Parts: sequence; C-alpha cells; structure tokens
Amino acid sequence: MIKIISMKEEHIPQIYEIEKSCFTIPWSKDAFEKELKENPLAYYIVAESKGNILGYAGMWKIADEGHITNIAVHPDFQHQGVGTLLMQGIIEEAQRNHFIGLTLEVRESNIKAQNLYKKFGFVNEGIRKGYYQDTGENAVIMWKYFKE
Ligand SMILES: CC(C)(COP(=O)(O)OP(=O)(O)OC[C@H]1O[C@@H](n2cnc3c(N)ncnc32)[C@H](O)[C@@H]1OP(=O)(O)O)[C@@H](O)C(=O)NCCC(=O)NCCS
Repeated sequence: MIKIISMKEEHIPQIYEIEKSCFTIPWSKDAFEKELKENPLAYYIVAESKGNILGYAGMWKIADEGHITNIAVHPDFQHQGVGTLLMQGIIEEAQRNHFIGLTLEVRESNIKAQNLYKKFGFVNEGIRKGYYQDTGENAVIMWKYFKE
C-alpha cells in the first residue's frame, strides 16, 4: 500500500537518488534539508511503501497561492499512479489553506508532466523564455484555479 506522508529528514537520501535520476540539475541534499528545517512556507510530502520512497512533491505557500517546487517519481514506479497520489496530496493541502490556486513551471519538452498537470485542471498561462539554465529551454507557466 502506498501512503502519502510528510517529508522527513530521514527520507532525504532516497529522495536525492530519485532527484538525480529525474533531473539534469538536481537539488542537493542540503537544499531539501534547508526546506524542511528553515523554510516556514514549505510543504513537502512523500509517497512511501514499505519504507521505500517512491516519489515526492512540494510547494511553497505564498499568501493565498501554492507554488509547486517539485514533483518526481522514481523511474521504476512512473506511470503507475504515484504522481497522481502526490498531486492529490498537494491539492488537498491547498484546499485546506483556501488557496485561490496552484502554479508551477515546467519544461516545454516535458509532456509527461504537462499531461499530469492538465489532468488535474492546470492550464497554460504563459512562457518564461530561456528559464532553464542548462539548455536555455523555455518554461511553461501553468495554473490551477480553485473556485471558492
Ligand atoms: C511527471 C511525473 C511526476 C508523473 O508521475 P507518474 O507517477 O508517472 O504519474 P501517474 O502514473 O500518476 O500518471 C498521471 C498522468 O501523468 C501523465 N503521464 C504519466 N506518464 C506518462 C507518460 N509516460 N507519457 C505521457 N503521459 C504520462 C498522464 O497524463 C497520466 O495519466 P494517465 O495514466 O491517465 O495517462 C513523473 O513522470 C516524473 O517523475 N517525471 C520526472 C520528473 C519530472 O519531470 N517532474 C516534473 C517537473 S515539472
């Protein structure tokens, strides 16, 4: 059974392995530690099964908006519903906080992730040109709005 629980420091080594396998510019272990210890705006969750971390997601709570910072699923467990569980976890927290919406940036070429976001009602709201430093790729800005 897969559980969605709060991210804890002890999860970071496994998270870092997923991070490296999913992103060309991975966050460091230190970056995750700082988020958990020092950032009062941060909300992070993991998908866990039998002590194994399958994926994680996070957002910054900025005023009445949720800014999704990352979402990733271990390559061996992708397209099996884990990303959906994580996104549901983030949306539930956003709704508990009465946010007006959720936003994120995603690489133009990352169709898998865009498909996941669209499934949850995110729409394209703009482009940040050359946002990604490694390739100069554009970011698509997506928003999901909540109706109160
Ligand atoms: C994007 C990501 C988090 C999705 O997680 P996941 O566990 O694979 O997602 P799910 O199995 O819950 O699938 C949800 C939806 O995502 C989309 N999706 C997932 N895998 C896909 C694939 N291989 N091709 C196309 N769409 C895909 C589909 O819309 C899917 O819905 P469907 O099953 O009805 O087709 C995962 O692919 C990942 O970790 N990618 C690498 C990291 C990354 O790019 N993160 C996003 C940064 S902005």
